[in-house]
Amino acid sequence: MSSGFVAHDYQFKVILCGDSDVGKSNILGRFSRDEFNPSSKATLAIEFSTKVILHEGKRLTVHIWDTAGQERFTALTRNYFRGAVGALIVYDITSVESFNSVPRWLSLLRSHAHPATVVCLVGNKIDLEANRKVPTQSGSDFAKAHGLLFHETSACTGVGINLTFHQLIVSIY
Ligand code: GTP
Ligand code: MG
Repeated sequence: MSSGFVAHDYQFKVILCGDSDVGKSNILGRFSRDEFNPSSKATLAIEFSTKVILHEGKRLTVHIWDTAGQERFTALTRNYFRGAVGALIVYDITSVESFNSVPRWLSLLRSHAHPATVVCLVGNKIDLEANRKVPTQSGSDFAKAHGLLFHETSACTGVGINLTFHQLIVSIY
């Protein structure tokens, strides 16, 4: 090539955590393919998606891993966490139970992922504001207390999804 331009390519592994039904697979679908599935089935194994982000003239390739929330804290293998530089812990703003699980997901991450892994707490389904059970303040207080990034999103409308991933990637990078 004669342009003299060197395309720097950086690769990142980001993992999704959180209870079943909070919207992890739809967050991934919205971010990687701009799709939403109103009747998506529970994830049964580990799934992947890749998305390339352009940041300050560089190509940042993000490999996002998604798994079954219903497997809870038992079946997640070391492979899932290995090499992850970023993680989203997702809860559903209409489900107190899913928010109450966040400390357990965080301790799982802290014990299996690299200590430098950047973690973002994500309150999903904000299109269901009328059914909100978890105040924004509760999410942001928890995030602040534990040194996490924090965003509220809707995989349904797309609100906050790109911002969440971009901020995570930029914090890692
Ligand atoms: P597991 O794979 O079982 O761990 O669940 P998951 O966290 O991947 O949840 P999934 O993405 O499959 O979404 C569960 C249900 O919530 C589906 O019916 C989705 O359509 C719905 N859903 C996901 N995100 C949103 C959202 O932002 N708003 C609304 N209204 N529904 C959502
Ligand atoms: Mg899923």
